[in-house]
Amino acid sequence: MGLGPVWKLRAPSVAATATELRAEATHSAAERAPTDDTAVTRVANIAMPMDWDELAATVAACRQCRLCEVRKQAVLGVGDGRADWLFVGEGPGAEEDERGEPFVGQAGQLLDNMLTSIGLQRGRDVYIANAVKCRPPENRTPDPDELAACRPYLAQQIALIQPKLIVAMGRPAAQTLLQTEVKISTARTKVHDYEGIPVIVTYHPAYLLRSPLDKAKAWEDLCFMRRTMRQLKANQ
Ligand code: URA
Ligand code: SF4
Repeated sequence: MGLGPVWKLRAPSVAATATELRAEATHSAAERAPTDDTAVTRVANIAMPMDWDELAATVAACRQCRLCEVRKQAVLGVGDGRADWLFVGEGPGAEEDERGEPFVGQAGQLLDNMLTSIGLQRGRDVYIANAVKCRPPENRTPDPDELAACRPYLAQQIALIQPKLIVAMGRPAAQTLLQTEVKISTARTKVHDYEGIPVIVTYHPAYLLRSPLDKAKAWEDLCFMRRTMRQLKANQ
């Protein structure tokens, strides 16, 4: 999948909040040589959203990577803007691209069932987003440079939501959040960290539709999430 070089790109990984994004953009022009990697330039070019309206408008008009060329619309996310739970998938598919909402196709039905199984409901204390906001052609896995280009938007969403727990579904979500190579089978059942926020890694629902034998493990992961959230709330 050619994931090697991207995890070294520096700018999007450190820019978590609008303030940091702005600082990054201000400093990058003055301090960096023109040979610096393109991700730095991208971050400098992204308008600095401060609230949900600005973020939504910026993403809707975004042309920071080639995925903008074939999308019908960018899909920012759905749910409670101050939810305790943030679920992050890979990228919009055909139905999501059509409707402008994440996880509304078959994988979305499974995700809804998974949420229900631990007492959650789309939109109620849950926010659902994707690692990239525009549909990759043929539903291919997003390329590392596309994930890097879109990462500041996910970072901005996290800064606005301030979730107690982030659930990364599948490798692209896990890798863009954790900025490291991830194998789901070894990363699951542990609590990782995104800028001080706990992250749990699990299988992507579309993968589970293809590999139903792993649904038992996904159920274990759901129980682990629920337990972790209880502990987080108890420790408040
Ligand atoms: N798969 C994803 O990763 N995200 C969606 O929104 C739909 C399917
Ligand atoms: Fe912009 Fe993200 Fe869409 Fe690429 S995928 S065009 S970075 S919103």
